[in-house]
Amino acid sequence: MTHSACKGITPDDPRFAELDAFIQDGRASADFLIAVLHKAQQLFGYLPEEVQRHVAAKLGLPPSEVYGVVTFYNYFTLTPVGKYPINVCMGTACYVQGAGRILSLFERELGIQPGQVTPDGLFSLEVCRCLGACGLAPVVTVAGEVHGKMTESAALKLVAELRERAAAEQAEAGKAVATVGGEAQ
Ligand code: FES
Repeated sequence: MTHSACKGITPDDPRFAELDAFIQDGRASADFLIAVLHKAQQLFGYLPEEVQRHVAAKLGLPPSEVYGVVTFYNYFTLTPVGKYPINVCMGTACYVQGAGRILSLFERELGIQPGQVTPDGLFSLEVCRCLGACGLAPVVTVAGEVHGKMTESAALKLVAELRERAAAEQAEAGKAVATVGGEAQ
């Protein structure tokens, strides 16, 4: 784990104070450690080394124990995750069907590399080994949803659709705020 993975999180980040307030309400135990890690991931979006060390110090646990729990449960993540996490399968079946080209397209279109998140927080990119759907190679998942027989044009369309969906959701949220504001007057 490198410090570059934790870019943007400094010790005076106000989210640490919120995490500490949560920690004060509980006692060190295996269950409480998991609850604290959930809270930390909710606040920071992922669990980089700085956050894990902070949790370990606050709970009086060895950092290795915290790291062990973070890596044991697959709902904890060590890398930033976007609203739409994209996972490109680079297993053998997908690779021979052109997964490398699909990955390059996502990298170009989103301007990020695997392990990174777009500046607007919409997309993150990961690669993985066989997803168990080789008959649909090349396979991509978006937020856990499987998209098989992926082509470069389908990948471009997918990104465009997700951008549109996010913009529509944002517009809807803006409308709801305006409505509440209007009703309050
Ligand atoms: S190699 Fe990609 S799903 Fe099996």
